[in-house]
Amino acid sequence: MAHQSENSAVDLDFYQPADSFFHAHRHTGLTFDDITLATRLSNVLPRSTNLATQLTERLELPMPIISSDMDTVTEADMAIAMARNGGLGLIHYNMPERQQLREVTKVKNDVHGLIQDPITVPPEVYIGDVLEMVEEKDYKFRTFPVVETSTGRFVGLLRGRIVKERYRHIKVSDAMTPRADVLTINEKDIATDPINVADEYFTQHMGIHKLIVIDDNERIKGLFTMSDIERIREEESAAVRPARDAHFRLLCGAAISATRTQTGELDNDRILGHAAALVDEGVDALAVSTAHGHSAGVGDVVKLLRSEFPELNLIAGNVTSAEGVEFLAKCGADAVKVGQGPGSICTTRIVAGVGIPQMTALYVCSKAAQSTGVRIIADGGITKSGDMVKALTLSNAVMCGSILAGAREAPGRVMEINGKVYKQYRGMGSLEAMRSGSAARYGHTKENQKTDKVAAEGIEALKEISGNVEDVLRPLVGGVQSGLGYLGAQNLAELRERARYIRVSPAGQRESSPHDVVEVKTTSEDS
Ligand code: XMP
Repeated sequence: MAHQSENSAVDLDFYQPADSFFHAHRHTGLTFDDITLATRLSNVLPRSTNLATQLTERLELPMPIISSDMDTVTEADMAIAMARNGGLGLIHYNMPERQQLREVTKVKNDVHGLIQDPITVPPEVYIGDVLEMVEEKDYKFRTFPVVETSTGRFVGLLRGRIVKERYRHIKVSDAMTPRADVLTINEKDIATDPINVADEYFTQHMGIHKLIVIDDNERIKGLFTMSDIERIREEESAAVRPARDAHFRLLCGAAISATRTQTGELDNDRILGHAAALVDEGVDALAVSTAHGHSAGVGDVVKLLRSEFPELNLIAGNVTSAEGVEFLAKCGADAVKVGQGPGSICTTRIVAGVGIPQMTALYVCSKAAQSTGVRIIADGGITKSGDMVKALTLSNAVMCGSILAGAREAPGRVMEINGKVYKQYRGMGSLEAMRSGSAARYGHTKENQKTDKVAAEGIEALKEISGNVEDVLRPLVGGVQSGLGYLGAQNLAELRERARYIRVSPAGQRESSPHDVVEVKTTSEDS
């Protein structure tokens, strides 16, 4: 035993817990690649680890990854994909307020498995017309609800087995199963638990593969197919569950701007009006997102929102100091974004000479978070799952832009260069993004943003296309789980508690990546 404790004393001397490690390096700003984590005794299997995180006291995420509120990263499609994979999307505010509201509505109304706008046909056309539509649009299905054009009412179901050449001269109204013989379900009956209700329906109605959802006026509100429901059931046994609210809707966040009037005052009425509309729509978190969160204007907006919406999950930032965290906590923030200048498209450190390397910033901010009770989001600079593990030793979630910007669900423009396909990815402080509305985030007014006198704090860039969000997240989540396994941590609280750090030399950094070999890539098709 004496021998064992002597060895663990050696470990502790070299691989230090956060307090002693960061204190020993207090005069140097450290980021992800500057450190590595020591492995610990473990009986934890990576796939059994639990990555759930409490983003605020009222908001839990099954997976601690948030997509950045950037106009080339998060709109409804990204937010839906993030929530389906257990994370959260923050819809950016570089768009008219009404459009941002619509994006949030899309996420909150997305019922996984429910086709919300099914393709329908009118009763007066012929089967031949339907066949032509199927051919032209390359539909992979042939069953269509029949809807009366004049009233919008559901009047029957045209079954796939009838949509055949031999019946081309028969009118849809004569070929369809009439409304009275089609089983449907009212939207109210699926409100709280749509997947289970649909699953139960298909079990009880042998041979039926489609379920039409209608409202009280016989208007179609959606369509379930049995194959979708079966796929969802398979997904449910996957390691990560979707992030949903109490009403089974996907979680969605939105960023909000510290909008000012012509005379430079905060436009309280407009800010409150927009926030109220987002809250009515069911938004789960609002983020007051700026480059300098430790500023009077941001504090005032946070206070304003907190006093008007006591239960709202409120994120604010960005800061890199303990004082900044304390300030936003006092103003009423639940979670604080930490990061000034670490982002892949950021030039704040070069342009303004400010900002702190991310691991040091996270440590300093985590101290203030412990004393004030707010949570910390590590925002920017994450390029690999190992960075996430390191960030999560000091924070409650990570926020990513670049890693997600090449995904199919990201809104950026797609372009082809020399046979490779890229998506646009730009900093919210780039000139182009500020012209589209994000200037306030960098402390500029509408007036000077029109001239080119403002100093851009971000660049316009490209990301190679990277498949869909699920494909991007899967290896990242797997990597984070491996990190927990190596540290013997069953969950994120244990990760924070068990983390031991050591500084890495430049040679150590080189050693950490593949070296002195020619890499051969095995794609999933090869296996
Ligand atoms: P990554 O590294 O994930 O970083 O691409 C995304 C984060 O970067 C921040 N951001 C900016 N920071 N100038 C900056 O200094 C910018 O133009 C800019 N745009 C985004 C933001 O915090 C985001 O989540």
